[in-house]
Amino acid sequence: MSATQDQSRPGPKTSIPVAILGATGAVGQRFLALLDEHPWFRVERLFASEESAGKTYAEAVDWALETPLPKQFAGLGVELLNPDDLGGLVVAFSALSPDVAGELEAEVADAGLLVFSNAGSHRMDADVPLIVPEVNADHFALATRQQRSGVIITNPNCSTVGLVLALAPIYRAFGLRRVSVVTQQALSGAGLIDGKLMELEGNVIPFIRGEEVKLAIEPGKLLGELMTNLGDGSLPEFEIEHAEFPVSATCTRVPVTNGHLLSVQVEFDEPVTKDDVLDAWARFQGLPQTEHLPSAPARPVHYLAEDSAPQPALHVNLESGMAASIGRLRPDGVYGEVGPKRRAWKFITLSHNTIRGAAGGSILNAELWFSTQSSELD
Ligand SMILES: NC(=O)c1ccc[n+]([C@@H]2O[C@H](COP(=O)([O-])OP(=O)(O)OC[C@H]3O[C@@H](n4cnc5c(N)ncnc54)[C@H](OP(=O)(O)O)[C@@H]3O)[C@@H](O)[C@H]2O)c1
Repeated sequence: MSATQDQSRPGPKTSIPVAILGATGAVGQRFLALLDEHPWFRVERLFASEESAGKTYAEAVDWALETPLPKQFAGLGVELLNPDDLGGLVVAFSALSPDVAGELEAEVADAGLLVFSNAGSHRMDADVPLIVPEVNADHFALATRQQRSGVIITNPNCSTVGLVLALAPIYRAFGLRRVSVVTQQALSGAGLIDGKLMELEGNVIPFIRGEEVKLAIEPGKLLGELMTNLGDGSLPEFEIEHAEFPVSATCTRVPVTNGHLLSVQVEFDEPVTKDDVLDAWARFQGLPQTEHLPSAPARPVHYLAEDSAPQPALHVNLESGMAASIGRLRPDGVYGEVGPKRRAWKFITLSHNTIRGAAGGSILNAELWFSTQSSELD
């Protein structure tokens, strides 16, 4: 649990019953580790593919996390999803494979559940909020456009989140002309293959299918502005005017277990100093911090001044894996500018791909939803 947990705001009147979709995978396991003893959510049912259905969770899963499988889930049965049989559940946290997530999540939302998804299938839908709680909580309004009994809420790709946590404060303070990023992504980001992490030793794979386009398009939606379109005078409709700076991305897989490390170059609209950028990061906080949500980090980004930081092995679990660590802020000499004020800067950002980049991000989205969109809290 987070650094702010001691002063967490009051929770729901009764704990909220939730299901995990894709409970046996890399992200599904992380959900169970994070929801063990969560103050607001109570895991009631677990779903996975035909291969796992009918087994207990302990039989079905190849537990791959550093902490033990929480005892309370070991004997729970794993089920095959049937959207007609979800009575009593309020929330579904989805860690479904990309090939099945789009359709199954829509069926579960149509059945009336609040679906908090990690999959890419619905992120860019015009009526689906893509949320990083410190950055764009107001985008929840998009969900009012969904013609469903429930809703689908998404969190970004596991590399996008580290990038956007670093970009949000500096984009809002100084404007951005362009961003270029090279990722070094962890093995757990590829999910489990036959119950095991991808094997890679002494090597780098310079390609991750579908990843570069996600990094190019998701920041524009996340940092976009919520527009209220009153149209013909009927109910207000909401849409996002995407932020317009281009993002050029190169994504690579490296032999690291957890933590996506990104090397980022940014060009601002106007020249700024190093202290300007550091101040923007230091002041950055959002609703999770002011509302004292249970999974909120005390600070969403931390600047680490040592030349050798951040490193996955040392810093990935900062603030229980919910904060991004940033380092090596330095001028980029590409425009031949001199002096303390420059338009072009470079830095490194690191975040935990299955915690802040997946299950932890989804749980924080759900906490924010119940804290701001629901009357179920005390
Ligand atoms: N890994 C990350 O760092 C990360 C970060 C952000 C987002 N994501 C996204 O999160 C999702 C899960 O990723 P992952 O890495 O956890 O993948 P994973 O390890 O491959 O797990 C996929 C899960 O989906 C289940 N599944 C597959 N087909 C199914 C079906 N027809 N019905 C019900 N369940 C089914 C699998 O169950 P079985 O075990 O029974 O096959 C497993 O539980 C993906 O959409 C991924 O893109 C991943």
